[in-house]
Amino acid sequence: MSTNGNDSASMPPPPPPPPPATPPIAIASTPEEEIYQTAGMNLSKGKEKLNGETSSASTSSLSGTKAPSVDTQINPRHSGTSADFAFEADMSKYPASMTSSVRAHVYEGGLRYHAYKDGKYAFPNDETEQNRDDMKHTMALMLTRGAFHYAPVEEVLKNGGEVLDLGTGTGIWAIELGDKYPNAKVTGIDLSPIQPNFVPENVHFFVDDLEEEWLDEANKYDYIHVRHVVYSIRDREYLLQQAMKHLKPGGYIEFQETHYATQSDDGTVSPTIPYALRDFINYLIAGMRALGTDALGILSLPDELKAAGFEEIKHTTHKAPIGSWPQDKRLRLAGLFQRTAIMDGLRGISRRPLMALGWTQLQIEMFLVDVRKALMDNEVHAYLTFHVVYARKPFSTGGGGGDQQQPDDRGKEES
Ligand SMILES: C[S@@+](CC[C@H](N)C(=O)[O-])C[C@H]1O[C@@H](n2cnc3c(N)ncnc32)[C@H](O)[C@@H]1O
Repeated sequence: MSTNGNDSASMPPPPPPPPPATPPIAIASTPEEEIYQTAGMNLSKGKEKLNGETSSASTSSLSGTKAPSVDTQINPRHSGTSADFAFEADMSKYPASMTSSVRAHVYEGGLRYHAYKDGKYAFPNDETEQNRDDMKHTMALMLTRGAFHYAPVEEVLKNGGEVLDLGTGTGIWAIELGDKYPNAKVTGIDLSPIQPNFVPENVHFFVDDLEEEWLDEANKYDYIHVRHVVYSIRDREYLLQQAMKHLKPGGYIEFQETHYATQSDDGTVSPTIPYALRDFINYLIAGMRALGTDALGILSLPDELKAAGFEEIKHTTHKAPIGSWPQDKRLRLAGLFQRTAIMDGLRGISRRPLMALGWTQLQIEMFLVDVRKALMDNEVHAYLTFHVVYARKPFSTGGGGGDQQQPDDRGKEES
Protein backbone atom coordinates (compact mmCIF):
# COMPACT_ATOMS: atom_id res chain seq x y z
CA MET A 1 0.00 0.00 0.00
CA SER A 2 1.56 3.25 -0.98
CA THR A 3 1.50 6.15 1.39
CA ASN A 4 1.94 9.75 0.56
CA GLY A 5 5.17 11.39 1.62
CA ASN A 6 4.66 13.91 4.36
CA ASP A 7 6.89 15.76 6.73
CA SER A 8 5.23 13.95 9.60
CA ALA A 9 6.73 10.71 8.34
CA SER A 10 10.06 11.25 10.03
CA MET A 11 8.76 11.71 13.53
CA PRO A 12 11.14 12.22 16.42
CA PRO A 13 10.65 9.90 19.38
CA PRO A 14 8.17 11.37 21.86
CA PRO A 15 9.93 13.59 24.35
CA PRO A 16 8.63 13.59 27.88
CA PRO A 17 6.43 16.70 27.67
CA PRO A 18 7.52 19.49 29.99
CA PRO A 19 5.32 20.36 32.94
CA PRO A 20 2.68 22.94 31.98
CA ALA A 21 3.74 26.51 32.69
CA THR A 22 0.22 27.44 33.64
CA PRO A 23 -2.69 25.45 34.96
CA PRO A 24 -4.93 23.87 32.33
CA ILE A 25 -7.26 26.38 30.81
CA ALA A 26 -10.93 25.84 31.25
CA ILE A 27 -12.48 24.24 28.22
CA ALA A 28 -16.05 24.30 29.42
CA SER A 29 -16.53 27.63 27.71
CA THR A 30 -16.89 26.12 24.24
CA PRO A 31 -20.20 27.39 22.86
CA GLU A 32 -21.49 23.89 22.39
CA GLU A 33 -25.14 24.61 23.08
CA GLU A 34 -25.05 27.52 20.69
CA ILE A 35 -23.58 25.57 17.81
CA TYR A 36 -25.87 22.62 18.37
CA GLN A 37 -28.83 24.98 18.16
CA THR A 38 -27.42 26.48 14.99
CA ALA A 39 -27.33 23.00 13.52
CA GLY A 40 -30.94 22.33 14.56
CA MET A 41 -29.77 19.89 17.23
CA ASN A 42 -30.50 19.85 20.92
CA LEU A 43 -27.93 18.26 23.16
CA SER A 44 -30.21 17.36 26.00
CA LYS A 45 -33.42 16.48 24.17
CA GLY A 46 -31.83 14.82 21.19
CA LYS A 47 -30.58 11.78 23.08
CA GLU A 48 -32.95 8.95 23.71
CA LYS A 49 -32.25 6.03 25.97
CA LEU A 50 -33.08 2.90 24.06
CA ASN A 51 -32.51 -0.51 25.57
CA GLY A 52 -30.07 1.01 28.02
CA GLU A 53 -27.94 2.28 25.15
CA THR A 54 -27.49 5.99 24.62
CA SER A 55 -28.84 6.61 21.20
CA SER A 56 -27.56 9.20 18.83
CA ALA A 57 -30.98 9.99 17.49
CA SER A 58 -30.08 13.60 17.75
CA THR A 59 -31.24 14.93 14.43
CA SER A 60 -34.27 17.09 14.50
CA SER A 61 -35.69 15.08 11.62
CA LEU A 62 -36.10 11.99 13.72
CA SER A 63 -39.75 12.27 14.52
CA GLY A 64 -42.69 10.10 15.32
CA THR A 65 -43.14 9.50 11.62
CA LYS A 66 -40.36 6.94 11.72
CA ALA A 67 -41.27 3.31 12.00
CA PRO A 68 -39.29 1.34 14.53
CA SER A 69 -36.73 -0.33 12.34
CA VAL A 70 -34.46 -3.28 12.92
CA ASP A 71 -32.18 -3.24 15.89
CA THR A 72 -28.54 -2.90 15.16
CA GLN A 73 -27.61 -6.52 14.61
CA ILE A 74 -24.86 -8.78 13.47
CA ASN A 75 -24.56 -8.44 9.76
CA PRO A 76 -25.84 -11.46 7.89
CA ARG A 77 -23.84 -10.15 4.85
CA HIS A 78 -20.74 -11.34 6.61
CA SER A 79 -18.76 -14.53 6.12
CA GLY A 80 -18.16 -14.90 9.81
CA THR A 81 -14.70 -16.27 9.23
CA SER A 82 -13.05 -14.02 11.74
CA ALA A 83 -15.80 -13.84 14.32
CA ASP A 84 -16.08 -16.28 17.14
CA PHE A 85 -19.41 -17.67 15.95
CA ALA A 86 -21.24 -18.41 12.74
CA PHE A 87 -23.55 -15.75 11.39
CA GLU A 88 -27.21 -16.36 10.88
CA ALA A 89 -29.70 -13.93 9.45
CA ASP A 90 -32.52 -14.99 11.77
CA MET A 91 -31.64 -13.35 15.07
CA SER A 92 -34.11 -15.48 17.02
CA LYS A 93 -31.65 -18.35 16.54
CA TYR A 94 -28.94 -16.60 18.47
CA PRO A 95 -28.54 -17.11 22.20
CA ALA A 96 -28.81 -13.77 23.97
CA SER A 97 -25.15 -13.86 24.88
CA MET A 98 -24.08 -13.90 21.23
CA THR A 99 -26.25 -10.96 20.34
CA SER A 100 -25.09 -9.05 23.37
CA SER A 101 -21.44 -9.78 22.65
CA VAL A 102 -21.47 -7.49 19.62
CA ARG A 103 -23.50 -4.98 21.56
CA ALA A 104 -21.03 -5.00 24.44
CA HIS A 105 -18.28 -2.46 24.98
CA VAL A 106 -14.87 -2.51 26.59
CA TYR A 107 -13.68 0.15 29.02
CA GLU A 108 -10.19 1.53 29.38
CA GLY A 109 -8.93 4.60 31.20
CA GLY A 110 -12.48 5.86 31.72
CA LEU A 111 -13.24 5.60 27.99
CA ARG A 112 -15.57 3.16 26.23
CA TYR A 113 -14.54 1.25 23.09
CA HIS A 114 -16.20 -1.23 20.73
CA ALA A 115 -15.93 -4.86 21.85
CA TYR A 116 -16.51 -6.62 18.53
CA LYS A 117 -12.99 -6.97 17.08
CA ASP A 118 -11.66 -5.09 20.09
CA GLY A 119 -8.78 -2.78 19.18
CA LYS A 120 -9.52 -2.59 15.46
CA TYR A 121 -10.60 1.05 15.71
CA ALA A 122 -8.31 3.20 17.85
CA PHE A 123 -10.90 5.61 19.19
CA PRO A 124 -13.72 5.39 21.75
CA ASN A 125 -17.42 4.99 20.95
CA ASP A 126 -18.89 6.64 24.03
CA GLU A 127 -21.29 9.55 24.18
CA THR A 128 -18.52 12.13 23.88
CA GLU A 129 -17.29 10.47 20.71
CA GLN A 130 -20.78 10.17 19.30
CA ASN A 131 -21.39 13.88 19.89
CA ARG A 132 -18.11 14.61 18.15
CA ASP A 133 -19.09 12.51 15.14
CA ASP A 134 -22.36 14.42 14.89
CA MET A 135 -20.48 17.72 15.13
CA LYS A 136 -18.14 16.63 12.35
CA HIS A 137 -21.18 15.67 10.29
CA THR A 138 -22.55 19.19 10.63
CA MET A 139 -19.14 20.66 9.87
CA ALA A 140 -18.87 18.53 6.73
CA LEU A 141 -22.27 19.72 5.55
CA MET A 142 -21.24 23.33 6.16
CA LEU A 143 -18.09 22.85 4.11
CA THR A 144 -19.97 21.17 1.27
CA ARG A 145 -22.79 23.72 1.47
CA GLY A 146 -25.28 21.06 2.44
CA ALA A 147 -24.30 18.45 -0.14
CA PHE A 148 -24.60 14.91 1.21
CA HIS A 149 -22.63 13.62 -1.76
CA TYR A 150 -20.68 15.02 -4.68
CA ALA A 151 -21.02 11.92 -6.84
CA PRO A 152 -23.86 12.41 -9.35
CA VAL A 153 -26.22 9.89 -7.78
CA GLU A 154 -29.23 12.09 -7.06
CA GLU A 155 -31.46 10.61 -9.76
CA VAL A 156 -30.66 7.03 -8.87
CA LEU A 157 -31.31 7.72 -5.18
CA LYS A 158 -34.63 9.38 -5.97
CA ASN A 159 -35.61 6.28 -7.90
CA GLY A 160 -34.69 3.72 -5.28
CA GLY A 161 -30.92 3.13 -5.38
CA GLU A 162 -28.98 0.87 -3.00
CA VAL A 163 -26.56 2.73 -0.73
CA LEU A 164 -23.84 1.31 1.55
CA ASP A 165 -22.36 3.54 4.25
CA LEU A 166 -19.10 2.05 5.51
CA GLY A 167 -18.16 2.96 9.11
CA THR A 168 -21.50 4.66 9.63
CA GLY A 169 -20.78 5.68 13.26
CA THR A 170 -23.93 7.12 14.82
CA GLY A 171 -25.60 6.66 11.45
CA ILE A 172 -26.39 10.35 11.22
CA TRP A 173 -25.48 10.64 7.53
CA ALA A 174 -27.31 7.41 6.62
CA ILE A 175 -30.45 8.46 8.49
CA GLU A 176 -30.56 11.92 6.98
CA LEU A 177 -29.91 10.49 3.52
CA GLY A 178 -32.71 7.97 4.06
CA ASP A 179 -35.03 10.82 5.00
CA LYS A 180 -34.04 12.78 1.94
CA TYR A 181 -34.45 9.83 -0.47
CA PRO A 182 -37.28 7.66 0.88
CA ASN A 183 -37.15 5.34 -2.15
CA ALA A 184 -33.49 4.55 -1.64
CA LYS A 185 -32.37 1.68 0.59
CA VAL A 186 -29.53 2.69 2.90
CA THR A 187 -27.38 0.14 4.75
CA GLY A 188 -24.88 1.34 7.34
CA ILE A 189 -22.25 -0.88 8.92
CA ASP A 190 -19.94 -0.24 11.84
CA LEU A 191 -17.87 -2.05 14.45
CA SER A 192 -19.87 -0.23 17.13
CA PRO A 193 -23.58 -0.69 17.85
CA ILE A 194 -24.13 3.01 18.44
CA GLN A 195 -26.93 3.71 15.98
CA PRO A 196 -30.43 4.64 17.14
CA ASN A 197 -33.19 2.05 17.15
CA PHE A 198 -35.76 4.32 15.59
CA VAL A 199 -34.75 5.19 12.07
CA PRO A 200 -36.46 5.65 8.71
CA GLU A 201 -37.91 2.43 7.29
CA ASN A 202 -35.44 2.46 4.43
CA VAL A 203 -32.36 2.61 6.69
CA HIS A 204 -30.75 -0.48 8.26
CA PHE A 205 -27.69 -0.86 10.44
CA PHE A 206 -25.44 -3.83 11.05
CA VAL A 207 -22.44 -4.47 13.23
CA ASP A 208 -19.72 -5.56 10.86
CA ASP A 209 -16.08 -5.09 9.94
CA LEU A 210 -15.87 -3.36 6.57
CA GLU A 211 -12.48 -4.99 5.98
CA GLU A 212 -13.92 -8.52 6.01
CA GLU A 213 -15.10 -10.13 2.79
CA TRP A 214 -18.53 -8.84 1.78
CA LEU A 215 -20.96 -11.63 1.04
CA ASP A 216 -23.54 -9.46 -0.72
CA GLU A 217 -24.15 -10.33 -4.30
CA ALA A 218 -21.90 -8.69 -6.88
CA ASN A 219 -23.14 -5.54 -8.66
CA LYS A 220 -25.54 -4.69 -5.83
CA TYR A 221 -24.84 -1.09 -4.82
CA ASP A 222 -25.43 2.14 -6.69
CA TYR A 223 -23.42 4.21 -4.25
CA ILE A 224 -20.87 3.49 -1.50
CA HIS A 225 -20.11 6.27 0.97
CA VAL A 226 -17.08 6.38 3.30
CA ARG A 227 -16.64 9.43 5.51
CA HIS A 228 -14.03 10.00 8.24
CA VAL A 229 -13.02 6.34 8.14
CA VAL A 230 -10.09 6.14 5.71
CA TYR A 231 -7.53 6.76 8.46
CA SER A 232 -8.66 3.53 10.11
CA ILE A 233 -8.52 1.25 7.07
CA ARG A 234 -5.63 -1.19 7.04
CA ASP A 235 -5.89 -2.43 3.47
CA ARG A 236 -7.35 0.15 1.08
CA GLU A 237 -6.45 -1.94 -1.95
CA TYR A 238 -8.68 -4.79 -0.76
CA LEU A 239 -11.46 -2.36 0.11
CA LEU A 240 -11.39 -0.92 -3.41
CA GLN A 241 -11.44 -4.43 -4.90
CA GLN A 242 -14.53 -5.26 -2.86
CA ALA A 243 -16.19 -1.98 -3.79
CA MET A 244 -15.46 -2.62 -7.46
CA LYS A 245 -17.06 -6.05 -7.22
CA HIS A 246 -20.18 -4.99 -5.31
CA LEU A 247 -20.95 -1.72 -7.08
CA LYS A 248 -23.25 -1.87 -10.08
CA PRO A 249 -21.58 -0.97 -13.39
CA GLY A 250 -21.72 2.83 -13.44
CA GLY A 251 -22.07 2.96 -9.62
CA TYR A 252 -20.04 5.40 -7.53
CA ILE A 253 -17.81 5.26 -4.49
CA GLU A 254 -17.17 8.46 -2.52
CA PHE A 255 -14.68 9.23 0.24
CA GLN A 256 -14.90 12.30 2.44
CA GLU A 257 -12.04 12.76 4.83
CA THR A 258 -10.13 15.42 6.73
CA HIS A 259 -6.41 15.48 6.12
CA TYR A 260 -4.94 16.25 9.52
CA ALA A 261 -2.12 18.69 8.79
CA THR A 262 -2.36 22.25 10.09
CA GLN A 263 -1.80 25.04 7.60
CA SER A 264 -2.43 28.77 7.34
CA ASP A 265 -2.49 31.25 4.50
CA ASP A 266 -1.00 34.13 6.47
CA GLY A 267 2.08 32.58 8.08
CA THR A 268 0.50 32.20 11.52
CA VAL A 269 1.21 28.48 11.19
CA SER A 270 4.77 27.88 10.07
CA PRO A 271 7.42 25.24 10.75
CA THR A 272 9.46 27.78 12.72
CA ILE A 273 6.68 28.83 15.10
CA PRO A 274 5.98 26.45 18.00
CA TYR A 275 2.46 25.08 17.72
CA ALA A 276 1.36 22.29 20.03
CA LEU A 277 -1.63 21.33 17.88
CA ARG A 278 0.60 20.53 14.91
CA ASP A 279 2.93 18.50 17.14
CA PHE A 280 -0.05 16.67 18.60
CA ILE A 281 -1.35 15.75 15.17
CA ASN A 282 2.08 14.53 14.09
CA TYR A 283 2.37 12.32 17.16
CA LEU A 284 -1.13 11.00 16.48
CA ILE A 285 -0.20 10.10 12.92
CA ALA A 286 2.90 8.28 14.20
CA GLY A 287 0.80 6.52 16.85
CA MET A 288 -1.76 5.42 14.27
CA ARG A 289 1.07 4.06 12.16
CA ALA A 290 2.32 2.10 15.18
CA LEU A 291 -1.20 0.68 15.49
CA GLY A 292 -1.20 -0.39 11.83
CA THR A 293 -3.19 2.29 10.04
CA ASP A 294 -2.29 5.14 7.72
CA ALA A 295 -3.82 8.39 8.89
CA LEU A 296 -2.81 10.04 5.62
CA GLY A 297 -4.51 7.47 3.39
CA ILE A 298 -6.86 9.98 1.78
CA LEU A 299 -3.90 11.54 -0.05
CA SER A 300 -3.18 8.31 -1.89
CA LEU A 301 -6.76 7.42 -2.75
CA PRO A 302 -7.11 9.16 -6.13
CA ASP A 303 -4.16 7.15 -7.49
CA GLU A 304 -5.34 3.99 -5.79
CA LEU A 305 -8.83 4.35 -7.29
CA LYS A 306 -7.26 4.65 -10.70
CA ALA A 307 -5.06 1.60 -10.12
CA ALA A 308 -8.15 -0.34 -9.00
CA GLY A 309 -9.85 0.37 -12.33
CA PHE A 310 -12.25 3.15 -11.36
CA GLU A 311 -12.88 5.95 -13.82
CA GLU A 312 -14.08 9.55 -13.80
CA ILE A 313 -12.13 10.18 -10.60
CA LYS A 314 -12.92 13.59 -9.16
CA HIS A 315 -11.18 15.21 -6.26
CA THR A 316 -11.98 18.43 -4.49
CA THR A 317 -10.74 20.02 -1.28
CA HIS A 318 -12.19 22.47 1.19
CA LYS A 319 -10.36 24.46 3.82
CA ALA A 320 -11.66 23.35 7.20
CA PRO A 321 -10.84 26.10 9.71
CA ILE A 322 -10.03 25.38 13.33
CA GLY A 323 -11.71 27.97 15.56
CA SER A 324 -13.79 31.05 15.07
CA TRP A 325 -11.20 33.16 13.24
CA PRO A 326 -12.73 33.23 9.70
CA GLN A 327 -14.70 36.32 8.70
CA ASP A 328 -17.16 34.31 6.66
CA LYS A 329 -20.04 33.14 8.86
CA ARG A 330 -20.35 29.67 7.32
CA LEU A 331 -16.64 28.99 7.75
CA ARG A 332 -16.62 30.52 11.24
CA LEU A 333 -19.35 28.10 12.33
CA ALA A 334 -17.59 25.20 10.63
CA GLY A 335 -14.45 26.24 12.52
CA LEU A 336 -16.32 26.29 15.82
CA PHE A 337 -17.65 22.79 15.22
CA GLN A 338 -14.21 21.58 14.25
CA ARG A 339 -12.51 23.13 17.27
CA THR A 340 -15.15 21.79 19.65
CA ALA A 341 -14.95 18.33 18.09
CA ILE A 342 -11.16 18.26 18.52
CA MET A 343 -11.24 19.80 22.00
CA ASP A 344 -13.88 17.41 23.32
CA GLY A 345 -12.06 14.43 21.86
CA LEU A 346 -8.51 15.13 23.02
CA ARG A 347 -8.44 12.47 25.74
CA GLY A 348 -10.16 9.86 23.62
CA ILE A 349 -8.23 10.57 20.44
CA SER A 350 -4.85 10.56 22.13
CA ARG A 351 -4.97 7.58 24.47
CA ARG A 352 -4.34 4.52 22.29
CA PRO A 353 -2.15 6.15 19.60
CA LEU A 354 0.14 7.98 22.02
CA MET A 355 0.37 4.99 24.34
CA ALA A 356 1.40 2.96 21.30
CA LEU A 357 4.38 5.36 21.12
CA GLY A 358 5.25 4.65 24.74
CA TRP A 359 3.74 7.71 26.38
CA THR A 360 2.26 7.44 29.85
CA GLN A 361 -1.16 8.76 30.73
CA LEU A 362 0.50 11.52 32.77
CA GLN A 363 2.70 12.59 29.85
CA ILE A 364 -0.34 12.70 27.60
CA GLU A 365 -2.35 14.80 30.05
CA MET A 366 0.51 17.26 30.47
CA PHE A 367 0.98 17.63 26.72
CA LEU A 368 -2.75 18.17 26.19
CA VAL A 369 -2.57 21.33 28.33
CA ASP A 370 -0.56 23.03 25.59
CA VAL A 371 -2.72 21.53 22.86
CA ARG A 372 -5.84 23.03 24.45
CA LYS A 373 -4.16 26.43 24.61
CA ALA A 374 -3.14 26.18 20.96
CA LEU A 375 -6.69 25.26 19.96
CA MET A 376 -8.14 28.32 21.67
CA ASP A 377 -5.62 30.73 20.15
CA ASN A 378 -7.60 32.75 17.62
CA GLU A 379 -4.49 34.63 16.54
CA VAL A 380 -3.45 31.46 14.75
CA HIS A 381 -5.48 31.15 11.56
CA ALA A 382 -5.12 27.41 11.20
CA TYR A 383 -7.09 25.12 8.98
CA LEU A 384 -7.10 21.47 7.98
CA THR A 385 -8.14 20.20 4.55
CA PHE A 386 -11.37 18.32 3.91
CA HIS A 387 -11.11 16.07 0.86
CA VAL A 388 -13.93 14.70 -1.26
CA VAL A 389 -12.90 12.01 -3.75
CA TYR A 390 -15.36 10.06 -5.84
CA ALA A 391 -15.07 7.66 -8.75
CA ARG A 392 -17.20 5.50 -10.99
CA LYS A 393 -17.09 1.79 -11.67
CA PRO A 394 -16.83 1.34 -15.44
CA PHE A 395 -20.06 0.48 -17.27
CA SER A 396 -18.28 -2.36 -18.97
CA THR A 397 -15.22 -4.25 -17.86
CA GLY A 398 -13.55 -3.54 -21.23
CA GLY A 399 -13.85 0.09 -20.05
CA GLY A 400 -10.78 2.22 -20.15
CA GLY A 401 -10.72 5.88 -20.98
CA GLY A 402 -12.04 8.77 -18.95
CA ASP A 403 -9.95 7.74 -15.97
CA GLN A 404 -8.04 10.97 -15.54
CA GLN A 405 -8.23 12.64 -12.18
CA GLN A 406 -10.19 15.82 -12.46
CA PRO A 407 -10.95 18.61 -10.07
CA ASP A 408 -14.54 19.07 -9.07
CA ASP A 409 -15.91 22.59 -9.52
CA ARG A 410 -16.90 22.72 -5.90
CA GLY A 411 -13.23 22.69 -4.91
CA LYS A 412 -12.82 26.43 -5.38
CA GLU A 413 -12.36 27.70 -1.88
CA GLU A 414 -12.56 30.81 0.17
CA SER A 415 -11.46 31.40 3.73
C1 LIG B 1 -15.13 9.06 12.92
S1 LIG B 1 -16.37 7.84 12.82
C2 LIG B 1 -17.22 8.35 11.35
C3 LIG B 1 -18.67 7.98 11.36
C4 LIG B 1 -19.46 8.35 10.12
N1 LIG B 1 -18.88 7.81 8.90
C5 LIG B 1 -19.63 9.82 9.99
O1 LIG B 1 -18.98 10.43 9.13
O2 LIG B 1 -20.41 10.41 10.75
C6 LIG B 1 -15.49 6.43 12.25
C7 LIG B 1 -16.31 5.16 12.37
O3 LIG B 1 -15.70 4.13 11.58
C8 LIG B 1 -15.90 2.92 12.24
N2 LIG B 1 -14.93 1.94 11.76
C9 LIG B 1 -13.59 2.05 11.76
N3 LIG B 1 -13.03 0.95 11.23
C10 LIG B 1 -14.05 0.13 10.89
C11 LIG B 1 -14.12 -1.18 10.31
N4 LIG B 1 -13.01 -1.86 10.00
N5 LIG B 1 -15.34 -1.71 10.09
C12 LIG B 1 -16.45 -1.04 10.42
N6 LIG B 1 -16.46 0.19 10.98
C13 LIG B 1 -15.27 0.76 11.21
C14 LIG B 1 -15.71 3.26 13.71
O4 LIG B 1 -16.30 2.28 14.55
C15 LIG B 1 -16.40 4.62 13.78
O5 LIG B 1 -17.73 4.52 14.21
